[in-house]
Amino acid sequence: MRIAVLPGDGIGQEVMNECLKVLNLIEKKYNLEIRIEYGEIGGVAIDKYGTPLPEETINICLKAEAVLLGSIGGPQWDDLPPEKKPEIGGLLKLRNLLRLYANLRPIILFEKLKDISPLANKNLKGEIDILIIRELSSGIYYGYPRALNQAEAYDTMHYQRSEIERIARLAFKIATKRRKKVTSVDKANVLYSSMLWREVVEKVAHDYPEVTLNHLYVDNAAMQLILNPGQFDVILTSNLFGDILSDEGAALVGSLGLCPSASIGKINLYEPVGGSAPDIAGKGVANPMAQILCLALMFEYSFKMQSISKAIWRAVEMTINNGFRTPDISKGKINPVETSLIGDQVCEYLKSL
Ligand code: IPM
Ligand code: MN
Repeated sequence: MRIAVLPGDGIGQEVMNECLKVLNLIEKKYNLEIRIEYGEIGGVAIDKYGTPLPEETINICLKAEAVLLGSIGGPQWDDLPPEKKPEIGGLLKLRNLLRLYANLRPIILFEKLKDISPLANKNLKGEIDILIIRELSSGIYYGYPRALNQAEAYDTMHYQRSEIERIARLAFKIATKRRKKVTSVDKANVLYSSMLWREVVEKVAHDYPEVTLNHLYVDNAAMQLILNPGQFDVILTSNLFGDILSDEGAALVGSLGLCPSASIGKINLYEPVGGSAPDIAGKGVANPMAQILCLALMFEYSFKMQSISKAIWRAVEMTINNGFRTPDISKGKINPVETSLIGDQVCEYLKSL
């Protein structure tokens, strides 16, 4: 297995260190042969090479079977021209080069974290086990025309029928293996791109009669996520709406630090939902679980090794259950531990499985 590792900025490096501890153990435990190549992306790449996505990094990714990404961005690079910024010139460009059209974001509330969810004892009817499927290659993130000058600025939310159909098919296919419900989220009462979105999703649904489809406007979906998150199985949505709803989902399950994601395309890329968190970088308090769970998604979606994937989820849950938690999920109830202890503990529990 050839894996490209791009730790990036902020907490990226420290959470990636923990992730690599776990990957190392997996290699030994399951007798795998893993070849890692490191690349630079984002602000660290700007500082070193003057560009957020150097050729060398692109080549490392293109030669890999999967890419593990930490996070990118930080205040010191915020004032660069848009195309030179870590987000646009780095991450968005890489997503585009790797043809990453779908971003899968599991939003799962661990049993033992129910009391730290902001919904604790309130609206928690049923479990929270949601898969947000966010369109990643198009929409307002990439649409043209776009412009920014002193007098005006605009973006374009553009969708081709084929792009909507492709993401919808994936969502229905995945839903058949889950609780068979797709909620498509749009703004079809106002936006043309959402009107087409809804029409195409309806059409695709006919090919999956065993899956129930409903539609929600994004404003209502944001509210429903808080009022009754148990109603959701697969949430299918566009690039921008998926970005926003997934942070809301992360808050529901306790922390962005718990949420991994899988981007599906030519070469799959795995990255935490959360960002580089410059405010806590280097302090040893970042939660590496999202990054570690990226491994679980990588073994599921890239290497089709479900048992390894399940073991990683389980080891992370055991770590939480036994009280090894960073400050974001300890909420004054448990003494928090450092980032580096989390990786060690996940390895310990993995060994025992
Ligand atoms: C995410 C992030 C990115 C996005 C940023 C960093 C470009 O917020 O992965 O959710 O908006 O896609
Ligand atoms: Mn985001």
